[in-house]
Amino acid sequence: MNQRPSILIARAVFPDVVEKLQQHFEVETTPAGVVWSSAELVQRLQGKAGVLTTGGERIDAALLAACPHLKIVANLAVGYNNFDLPAMTAAGVLGTNAPDVLTETTADFGFALLMATARRVTESERFLRAGQWKEWSLDLFAGAEVHGSTLGILGMGRIGQAIARRAAHGFGMPVIYHNRSRLTPELEAACKATYVDKAELLRRADHLLLVLPYSAASHHAIGAAELAQMKPTATLINIARGGIVDDAALAVALRERRIAAAGLDVFEGEPRVHPDLLTVPNVVLTPHIASATLPTRSAMAHLAADNLIGFLVEGRPVTPLNPEVLAA
Ligand code: DGY
Repeated sequence: MNQRPSILIARAVFPDVVEKLQQHFEVETTPAGVVWSSAELVQRLQGKAGVLTTGGERIDAALLAACPHLKIVANLAVGYNNFDLPAMTAAGVLGTNAPDVLTETTADFGFALLMATARRVTESERFLRAGQWKEWSLDLFAGAEVHGSTLGILGMGRIGQAIARRAAHGFGMPVIYHNRSRLTPELEAACKATYVDKAELLRRADHLLLVLPYSAASHHAIGAAELAQMKPTATLINIARGGIVDDAALAVALRERRIAAAGLDVFEGEPRVHPDLLTVPNVVLTPHIASATLPTRSAMAHLAADNLIGFLVEGRPVTPLNPEVLAA
C-alpha cells in the first residue's frame, strides 16, 4: 500500500479544513495561538511533502535546503511576500496563494477603515467611554467628508478595483489611481477610475488607500517625503502590508498634523506596532483583519487545502504562483 503524504498545518485552521486534509494526508496540526519559530518550523517540516502556511511563516532558501521532502507551500493569504519565490522555484517547490475569495470582503473593510478614520469613529468612542462627553457641540469630532471627496488608490489589482467601484458608484467619489501598469479602458470605465502618476495621486487625494503588494520595490513607498506631498486634511489607509508605510515617519506626520488621520490594518514587524502609533489619537488601528469574516476566512483556508490536495493528489493545484515547477 502506498504511504499517504504527510503535511503540516503551520497555523491553526477550522476543524472542517483539517478533516478535509485528513482524508488525503497524514496531518500534523498546530494548536491555536501557537506560532512556530523558523527552527521549530524546519523541525516540524521534516518528512513533510506539503505545508499550509499563513503570511507569517517565512519560506526561504535556508528553510528549503533544510526540508528536502517539501514539494508545496500553500499560503492561506493572497499576499505571498513571506515566500522567496525564486528560491522555491529553484528548489522545485510549488507555491500557491489564496486570491479572489477575499476580494470583496477586503474591499468592504478598506471602506470601513476609511469611514472610521475620516469620521473619527474610534477616537470619539474612546472619548465617550472615558466619560468625557458633557454636551453636544457643533464641531465635536468633526471629521472629513467621504462622499464626493477624491479617493486615491495606490495599487489597482482586484481589491483596489473593488474599492474603486464602491467609492465611485456608492459614494460619488472621483477615483484616481496609480499602479505599476495601467488598467484597460474597460476596467477603468467599470471602476470610474482615472490613472495618474504617483506625485499627482499624493497631491490630489483626500483619502489615500494603499492596496499594493509588498516587495523590495514597494518598501516604504509612503515615507516622510511622500507624506509631505499629501494634503494636511488627507487621510491615509493601509490594508496592504506592513513595510509599505514607514510607520515611524507616519507617527510623526500624524502627531504634527501634517496629514489629518490614518487607518492601519497592517504594520511593519507586526504583531508589534510602532509605539509612537499607539500614542497618537488620530489613527485607527486594527490587527490585520481586512479579510476576516468567517465565510471568507473559511473560503481562504479551503482554497489553501484544495491547493495541497490538487497538487499532491491530482497533480493540478488551483492557484499556482510558480507553475514552471509543474512543467519541470
Ligand atoms: C492576505 O490574504 O494577504 C491577507 O493580508 C491575510 O494575510
